[in-house]
Amino acid sequence: MEKELVIVIDFGGQYNQLVARRVRECNVYCEIYSYKTDLDKIRAMNPRGIILTGGPNSCYEENAATCPPELFRLGIPVLGLCYGAQVMSQVLGGRVERAAVREYGRTQVHVDNTSPLFAGVAADTVCWMSHFDYIAQMAPGFRAIATTANCPVAAAECREQNLYAIQFHPEVLHTLEGSRMLYNFVRGICGCRGDWRMDSFVEESVKAIREKVGDGKVLLALSGGVDSSVAAGLLSRAIGRQLTCVFVDHGLLRKNEGDEVEAIFGEGGQFDLRFIRVNARERYYAKLAGVTEPEEKRKIIGEEFVRVFEEEAKKIGAVDFLAQGTIYPDVVESGLGGESAVIKSHHNVGGLPDYVDFKEILEPLRNLFKDEVRKAGLELGIPEKLVFRQPFPGPGLGVRIVGEVTAEKVKIVQDADAIYREEIAEAGLDQEINQYFAALTNMRSVGVMGDERTYDYAVALRAVKTVDFMTAEAAEIPFEVLQKVMSRIINEVKGVNRVFYDLTSKPPGTIEME
Ligand code: XMP
Repeated sequence: MEKELVIVIDFGGQYNQLVARRVRECNVYCEIYSYKTDLDKIRAMNPRGIILTGGPNSCYEENAATCPPELFRLGIPVLGLCYGAQVMSQVLGGRVERAAVREYGRTQVHVDNTSPLFAGVAADTVCWMSHFDYIAQMAPGFRAIATTANCPVAAAECREQNLYAIQFHPEVLHTLEGSRMLYNFVRGICGCRGDWRMDSFVEESVKAIREKVGDGKVLLALSGGVDSSVAAGLLSRAIGRQLTCVFVDHGLLRKNEGDEVEAIFGEGGQFDLRFIRVNARERYYAKLAGVTEPEEKRKIIGEEFVRVFEEEAKKIGAVDFLAQGTIYPDVVESGLGGESAVIKSHHNVGGLPDYVDFKEILEPLRNLFKDEVRKAGLELGIPEKLVFRQPFPGPGLGVRIVGEVTAEKVKIVQDADAIYREEIAEAGLDQEINQYFAALTNMRSVGVMGDERTYDYAVALRAVKTVDFMTAEAAEIPFEVLQKVMSRIINEVKGVNRVFYDLTSKPPGTIEME
């Protein structure tokens, strides 16, 4: 049976990936394409449905992003969201104008729930609005199916042709019944059965990897992070010992993390693969000795990683494939898929090593969102502790130690961080805080322990709440939890006599110290 596909046509809106994720939550596979994508290409993909996203422009401006009217005559259901709704209206003969006031935020909407788009939705519901322009006149054949106090056409339909337009954002959680609306569109109006599931993803990927790789050799740089670990698990299931994973332990990982990665992927662990752990810690510390400037430190850590990896690759010799843990947001953000591409280029992959002898790149997770990667990881039997690991920067503790990195400072920050994480989990706060860690300030100060004067380092505790890691707020941790962490760190970690809690939001701060 042919796989179901819904495509999201991206007009540059900030929620394009969110729309695709919400569709996938309905178990329908979904990909993002630029609005410039050729109509023939869209036809050839044979999607079950098309969703037009929001965008930053006004559709009546010269050179504004638009789409050809034929898009609406393919016989494929189309749902326009915000700017997408306005483009649809304008292209099909309606009129879009600038409103006297901007409608922004949570808004009461009255919907006609006899429309298939709003089936099961309360007649009066709350939606997230963010628009200046509005549909002043609907295209011929359309009727209004939702209104607000300020917006006569908050949604419209042309049911005969399966065309739907919504002025608000169903993909945003503030739209209380938004998921239901998207479900109604993809599962109801488009008629998708919902064949996108992680168990079948694993099964099908295993088959596809075997076919592609044949009896070839594959090399993967395993960092111990979620993406490369899941890629390793998947490849190992598909091709066993044809896979070699090189795990560079740069000595800047969290406490015991290197051993944990080895316990899972190394010899005698649960996966069948060739595992090489390179203990490069001394080499890293030597390179970092005396270096205090943050960018310089990052550069050294990144470059050294590539060098170490290349040296191992040389020992292994030629391979057929170099595997990478690239995931879908990386693909969209580096400009291969969507429109917002042009704005950001992702910085996750530190560049390909120059001297690795391979023929092709293999990216088994390139179609998955992060939450799907985690689900696939669980399917593959990777321990929850690793699958739900919080984000950890590539340069590791190197950016959590202010100033020069030394073996002594690494040990201090590892021990303090382990205590902090233990106590946050113990207090049941680990689910609600998005990222938390201990860092080592470069400050030493005077204290007193017993009858002795001390002159030791200060540890900074960081904990943030964030959705996208672009902005963040310091988390409100109960004082008694902070006190317990402070007391344990000072008692158990040698070399620390002061603990600070970092209250800074981002901006103006960043999440990491450097
Ligand atoms: P900042 O410090 O920029 O961090 O507010 C935002 C998020 O990105 C992570 N981060 C990195 N991740 N390589 C990475 O893979 C890096 O060099 C890097 N620097 C910061 C950070 O942990 C946070 O989640």
